[in-house]
Amino acid sequence: MTWFLCVCVFLALALLALKLKLRVSTRGPQEPPCLPALPLIGSLLSLRGPQPPHLLFKGLQEKYGQTYSLMMGPHPVIIINQHRHAREVLLKKGKVFAGRPRTVTTDILTRDGKDIAFGDYGSTWRFHRKVVHGALCMFGEGSSSIEKISELVLSESAAAGLALDLTPELTRAITNVICSLCFNSSYRRGDPDFEAMLRYSQGIVDTVAKDSLVDIFPWLQVFPNADLRLLKWCVSVRDKLLQQKYDEHKANYSDHVQRDLLDALLRAKRSADNNNTVEAGSESVGLSDDHLLMTVGDIFGAGVETTTTVLRWAVIYLIHHPQVQRRIQEELDSKVGAGRPPQLSDRGSLPYLEATIREVLRIRPVAPLFIPHVALSDTSIGDFTVRRGTRVIINLWSLHHDEAEWENPDRFDPGRFLNSEGTAVVIPSSSYLPFGAGVRVCLGEALAKMELFLFLSWILQHFTLSVPTGHTLPSLEGKFGVVLQPAKYKVNATPRPGWEMDQNQMC
Ligand code: HEM
Repeated sequence: MTWFLCVCVFLALALLALKLKLRVSTRGPQEPPCLPALPLIGSLLSLRGPQPPHLLFKGLQEKYGQTYSLMMGPHPVIIINQHRHAREVLLKKGKVFAGRPRTVTTDILTRDGKDIAFGDYGSTWRFHRKVVHGALCMFGEGSSSIEKISELVLSESAAAGLALDLTPELTRAITNVICSLCFNSSYRRGDPDFEAMLRYSQGIVDTVAKDSLVDIFPWLQVFPNADLRLLKWCVSVRDKLLQQKYDEHKANYSDHVQRDLLDALLRAKRSADNNNTVEAGSESVGLSDDHLLMTVGDIFGAGVETTTTVLRWAVIYLIHHPQVQRRIQEELDSKVGAGRPPQLSDRGSLPYLEATIREVLRIRPVAPLFIPHVALSDTSIGDFTVRRGTRVIINLWSLHHDEAEWENPDRFDPGRFLNSEGTAVVIPSSSYLPFGAGVRVCLGEALAKMELFLFLSWILQHFTLSVPTGHTLPSLEGKFGVVLQPAKYKVNATPRPGWEMDQNQMC
């Protein structure tokens, strides 16, 4: 009997050892290192502190490595701080990681994800992207429409040498580009619709998708919440404006003319309706009125704040680095002259200006954490396993400030984007992704680059920018939100020799 027991124990131990061995050998890739996490609140305690998330996530690399995970309440999130893993997510496995998380604030903004930026990957989303992409091409290189509306109005204050806040004018100019694209219309200064738009846009930037507690714990909605109230108010103002434009377009629609993005979307909707079988009708690709409105709202949201913010950063860096400004002006003087405004066809002959724009996009990425991606099936990143539903945050800030990829990453140096002769623009590292990449790449990349070029070249052709007397240099620190915004600042825009007479025209 004893020997029988001994054999049983031996067999049990052997089986256990075998099972353990099997588990070790078949365990495959590991999960990424995880920040401490408690039930319910997840890793919240490790994420407290004064630092904005992009800096906090960069700092945590030292302890957890370049790719690690954390729990945002109940949601597993992987943070990526290096370009190899970022490229795997965006390009190599772009479709697998093309999902977007649903959150309370983005659902309010987009009527439950009926847009492009926060909409989940699928046929509706693909169709919308295609239609919008087509409409954006109408604005492409060779089209004069964007060149016509890119002149800024810097008002009498510039001539009088007063300290100017450029933000309202920059915002109005960029808004007019997007308005012209979406509605074939533009705003004059002081237009009440434009003033309303400025107010609601800022409210949205301040409240959406900044990992507020209500986005992590949706049940918190039951408590009074000032941010949510503000967001709902902003969205209702936006929707009233959008609805008005939509009704006007529907009333004046013609199959023979396509004036703007709304016409393009209406045409796509009608043609889907005309081919109507129950399955292939407009609803099957999501062309409901809600989808059309949210898509236009998206282009507004994504198109105005981003480009305006990059221009604001560019002006700050030009003020900090007058030698860069001078070199751009010399380039403009020799390649464009003073007889005409710069045109898109000048881009190839103004490499230093192009390099400066790239350096601004590197050093202050406007979307430092992109928009979160979601794994649509079980998959992997490098050697790490990733479960379906995991959120993935790419920390573009880390990529653009990676010491292994960029010499002195905190130094503003447009020259790093030029070849050794200084005659052509280059991308010196794979760790540069200001517009993302792959299936979710920014839809407005080409348009944004054209706008940045036209506005900056026009400003520097006409003006020299400097700190107003008695002011300090503007802060280089950003305020984290849906975009990384600079603090408010004032600037002196002094007309360059030869441009003083034009002030009346510009007012
Ligand atoms: C300098 C200006 C801009 C920058 C730096 C920028 C950058 C980005 C980035 C980093 C993303 C996220 C990519 C991802 O999640 O993987 C994005 C998405 C997007 N951008 Fe831009 N963007 C700019 C201007 C614009 C403009 C002018 C428009 C529209 C006219 C636009 C429309 C969009 C849309 C619709 C998306 C969502 C794409 C999707 O989820 O499929 N962006 N952008």
